[in-house]
Amino acid sequence: MPKAAIIGTGHFVPERVVTNEELTGYMDTSDEWIRERSGIRERRWVEPGTPGIGLGVAASRAAIEDAGIEKDEIELILYATLNPDYTFPGNGVLLQKELGLPHVGAMDIRNQCTGFVYGLAVADAFIRAGMYRTILLVGAEIHSNALDLTTRGREVSVLFGDGAGAVVVRAEEGERGVIASCLHSQGEHAEVLSIELPNSMVPGRITHEQLDEGRHFPRMEGRTVFKHAIVRFCEAIREVLEMGGATIDDVALLVPHQANQRITEMVAKRMGVPMERVMSNIHKYGNTTAATIPICLAEASRDRRLAAGDLVVTVAFGSGFTWGANLIRW
Ligand code: UT7
Repeated sequence: MPKAAIIGTGHFVPERVVTNEELTGYMDTSDEWIRERSGIRERRWVEPGTPGIGLGVAASRAAIEDAGIEKDEIELILYATLNPDYTFPGNGVLLQKELGLPHVGAMDIRNQCTGFVYGLAVADAFIRAGMYRTILLVGAEIHSNALDLTTRGREVSVLFGDGAGAVVVRAEEGERGVIASCLHSQGEHAEVLSIELPNSMVPGRITHEQLDEGRHFPRMEGRTVFKHAIVRFCEAIREVLEMGGATIDDVALLVPHQANQRITEMVAKRMGVPMERVMSNIHKYGNTTAATIPICLAEASRDRRLAAGDLVVTVAFGSGFTWGANLIRW
């Protein structure tokens, strides 16, 4: 049976570097607090008014070039983002247009920080079913325009950045490709990390009073997310390893969603993986939700941290709650 092999990776981040120091000009926070609690030193933000799809397009072009294919070989777009340019339609169709692709299918993935892991599982399933041979999977996010940059929103706003990553996957019969994926959710925690408004329960979707209350900004119970994340990351890693008949010692690179450096280090410690075999770039990009894992894969590939035949685990946890992992032979 064929499986989805990652044949190209690409990423794009905006030029504008926003340091922790800059954030202290907007809210009551400090470089020390942000670095100690999250490991973040800086993040990238777009200039206001930049269309989010631009990030997805740039990352996609890089992935297509890296794959060495013609863009018209792509048969399906999967686009993971929690911040689409429009409430509807999703960004998948915008990418189809911007890349000038023929009328291929375009599907949007709504799994926040776990979007890339879900997307890769979906791509692999389509390929195993024989429905498609070449799929473009994108994780892209513009957070900067949707953050509460006052002290009220500081617990969330200091963590998030803008960026995009993409992979091209292709049906292959050999060793290379997605060996196993696991996907999970727990909707009882939906409100713990969410944006409440605008929503379809409110006539007109949002009121002036609600805007004044800042209920259109993301909210998070940070400690609750933190505790669940560590447990679920480890469970998902163990689950895909068992599905693939591998052990943690076989894994050349663990690529966790970049939520918090303390989460990454605690998961690595619990799993017994030395940090040399764990991907981390949160210090320079912050949390870019669906984009963190494909950005990590693109950088790891570029920096020769991945070699043909390596076993890779990607793992994520986030809003929903949703979590999951992929076991991949590079
Ligand atoms: O991608 C998946 C989604 N997100 C995550 O996985 C994030 C998970 N959670 C976290 O990363 C951490 O919980 C945070 C980084 C958000 C917070 O770190 P923490 O060690 O859990 O801090 P805390 O919640 O214990 O808050 C400590 C204090 C509080 O003050 P009091 O109540 O102790 O006086 C906060 O008000 O830090 C305060 N605080 C801040 N201080 C300065 C919260 N945000 C800030 C800030 N700057 N930006």
